[in-house]
Amino acid sequence: MQIFRDKASIELVIAEVKRAGKSIGFVPTMGALHAGHLSLVRQCAKECDVVVVSIFINPTQFDNPSDLDNYPRTLDTDIVKLESLELDLLVFAPNASELYGSKVEAEHFIFGGLEHRMEGKFRNGHFDGVGTVVKKLFEIIKPDRAYFGEKDFQQLQIIKKLIEISHLPVEIIGCPIDREANGLARSSRNERLTSSDREEAAFIYQTLLKVKQKFGTESAKNIRDWVEKEFEKHPFLKLEYFEIADGNSLITAEDIEPGLNYRAFIAAYAKDIRLIDNVALN
Ligand code: PAF
Repeated sequence: MQIFRDKASIELVIAEVKRAGKSIGFVPTMGALHAGHLSLVRQCAKECDVVVVSIFINPTQFDNPSDLDNYPRTLDTDIVKLESLELDLLVFAPNASELYGSKVEAEHFIFGGLEHRMEGKFRNGHFDGVGTVVKKLFEIIKPDRAYFGEKDFQQLQIIKKLIEISHLPVEIIGCPIDREANGLARSSRNERLTSSDREEAAFIYQTLLKVKQKFGTESAKNIRDWVEKEFEKHPFLKLEYFEIADGNSLITAEDIEPGLNYRAFIAAYAKDIRLIDNVALN
């Protein structure tokens, strides 16, 4: 495994890999790696000749400074976890000035309206930050394929749009959500939950599973009202939003139309820790 802290040295290696005609797979992360990230890396290694993993906590995608301050920073253990995979990886772990120079600012993107829904409504500027850093990373790594978890399903749709509007020749691969034994979606933020918090937080997934059962027999409005009431009764979790939306446009479903693929989405707080999850409904 080789670790690069600066852009120039990884660019040299990428140029060699390209000259040799090898395919490059890329797994961008913000570190605090968990089993979900490791499964993305394994899948990437199966499908690509060379695997690059980036570890960079991107400041421009945090609308809340305390969320950025509290984000787990675990580079040394992340490296140990990646080493345990026994794969020949290239790890890119730059600092902010290496990627942004002296201006740590996001570019503004129009993602065809995807950016105004759900996470975009509640996290001001979040997707401009994600789009900015992913575009910068793609320009450095020049991957053939890039792997993203479906936990951040809206982010996955946004990245597909980014590729289209920025004309980047990258295939975007969405990978299923990795879950803890109780169903809680794996997330770097779970590091900040105690084990009893994690048991409570599994309520998010349990609720989504019940939504899936109700879908098809009850209206979207009834399901929405039911979810809101369930969270009101919950002593620990605070619901930020619940949505049933079309899986491509992410437009809220008022009526369920045949032939469309719907998903249900939840964002909720466990103390000050924001958790998101989603399931396919049909
Ligand atoms: O999903 C994440 O961890 C981040 O949003 C990403 C894609 C690495 C960009 O910072």
